[in-house]
Formats: sequence, structure tokens, C-alpha cells
Amino acid sequence: MGNNLLKGKKGIIFGALNDQSIAWKVAERAHEEGAEIVLTNAPIAMRMGEINNLAEKTNSQVIPADATSEDDINNLIDKSMEIFGGKFDFVLHSIGMSVNVRKNRHYTDSNYDWTMKGIDVSALSFHKVMKCVMKKDAINEWGSILALSYIAAQRVFPDYNDMADNKSMLESIARSFGYHFGEQKKVRVNTISQSPTMTTAGSGVKGFDEFISFSEQMSPLGNASAMDCANYCISMFSDLTKYVTMQNLFHDGGFSNTGVTQAVIEKFGK
Ligand SMILES: NC(=O)c1ccc[n+]([C@@H]2O[C@H](COP(=O)([O-])OP(=O)(O)OC[C@H]3O[C@@H](n4cnc5c(N)ncnc54)[C@H](O)[C@@H]3O)[C@@H](O)[C@H]2O)c1
Repeated sequence: MGNNLLKGKKGIIFGALNDQSIAWKVAERAHEEGAEIVLTNAPIAMRMGEINNLAEKTNSQVIPADATSEDDINNLIDKSMEIFGGKFDFVLHSIGMSVNVRKNRHYTDSNYDWTMKGIDVSALSFHKVMKCVMKKDAINEWGSILALSYIAAQRVFPDYNDMADNKSMLESIARSFGYHFGEQKKVRVNTISQSPTMTTAGSGVKGFDEFISFSEQMSPLGNASAMDCANYCISMFSDLTKYVTMQNLFHDGGFSNTGVTQAVIEKFGK
């Protein structure tokens, strides 16, 4: 049941692959809150076809776009504006991929072609989307643009590999672009740094099951779920958070400010 927090708002949601995806939950919640949405994902992800179920459920259209291709993004923004009948109010960038992680290549032995691909998909794509939205003047004043990040941007989590560097760049792009978008268009740009979450992208990280349990025990509130992340995204798209911009917002049950917890200490008792 929604509270009409996004009534009258329109937005584009990148990255719903299956019903575990964080973007999937955001799309469901945005629909419940009264928003009109367009869904998009890489053409290759479309082949799995699951996004069509989400489109039906949320009464939305799907426009394929490889987020690394400026042509695809241009087409996506043009078509979305046709569907919406004008400008929109929010964008969710929920995209991440590292070829080095996928192919189990150690960080210290990175394949740089793969590194560049990962940067393009996971970080630069955010810049490309915002560049296009700004150039086309496609977003309303006080609009809200979000990307999803992880605390490996600030602290070392060895198995997160080069995704750590990608997330650092993503957060930096949010700050830098957020400055210009704020000044020129009164649009806010933020990243949400989410707890580890069992999704297709998440489970690609080595030792992810153990890591989720560790994080759960290191967070006073426990790990935040994908649905709770979606709720936070909804609040960030709503008018209740109009002056929050250029921030990396931790949504992690307190993990980021915790040195150690009693539960973890007890594991080391004799
Ligand atoms: N799962 C976690 O533990 C976790 C934690 C913190 C942050 N995040 C971030 O949340 C975001 C969403 O990931 P998720 O966990 O929901 O996993 P997911 O696998 O469901 O979503 C990742 C999406 O990226 C899309 N994608 C990949 N390459 C693309 C391209 N070239 N163009 C367009 N889309 C492309 C995939 O098709 C997929 O839909 C990512 O940025 C991820 O890094 C995830």
C-alpha cells in the first residue's frame, strides 16, 4: 500500500534484471507510490525476458539501452519523454559489472581492458546518463537522480576487486555532476551506499554468503534488505528530501560507523 509519495512524478529506472534486483523493488515501490515509470536495461539482459513481467505489473514500458552507449541513452531519453509527454522527475542508476570479478582475475593482476569495461559500465555510464538528461533539459526542477554504491569505495574489501575503484569514481561523479546539476537546474544527485544484498550482481563476489553474515553481525540494525533500499530510494525521489544533494548516503544498518560489535567480539572469546 502506497502513500502517494510520488503521485504525479515520472522516472526512469535502470537495472531491473529479476525480482531480486534492487531496481526491481524500486520499480514496484515507485508504482505503488503513484509514479509513472519507464524501465530500461542492457539489450542482453532483455533476453531473459523477466523485465516484461515487471513492466506488466507496474503498467510501464521497457526501452532497451546499453548504458555505456550515448546513442542508446539518447534514444532512451527521447522515447521516455514521448511516453511521459514531457520532462520527468527522477532517475535510478542501478548498474554494476566488473569483468575482472566475473572472470575471477585477482586485483593485483587486473586485465586492463576488463578494468576499462567495468569503469564504463559501473561509473562512467552514470556520467553519460546525466550528460544526456542535462543536454536535453529532460528533468524537472527539484528532480532527483540516484545511483547505488557500496562502502568498498571508502574501505578495503579485498574480494570486491576493481568494483571498489568503480564505486569510488561513481560517488565522485555524483558529487561533481551534482554541483553543476544543482546550480544549473536545481536537480539533486546522490548515491546510496547499500548493505550487501543477495542479487545477481552481489552473488558474483567471491565468498558473498560468508560476507553477508559478517556484515549482518557487524551492523547494529543488521543488513538492510533490497526492499528497505527501495523505500530509501522512494524517499529520495520524493519532495521530502529536496535539499539533499551531492551526498553518499549510507543505508547499511550502521555498519559504516561500527568498529566492532558484541556479536563479533564473542566469536573471538576463548
Ligand atoms: N547486491 C549488493 O550487495 C549491492 C550492494 C551495494 C550496492 N549494489 C549496487 O546496486 C546496483 C544494482 O545491483 P543489484 O545488486 O540489484 O544486482 P543486479 O544484477 O540485479 O543489477 C545489476 C544490473 O546492471 C545491469 N547492467 C549491466 N551492464 C549494463 C549495461 N551495459 N547497460 C545497462 N545495464 C547494465 C544488469 O543487466 C543488471 O540489471 C549496482 O550498482 C550494485 O553495484 C549492490
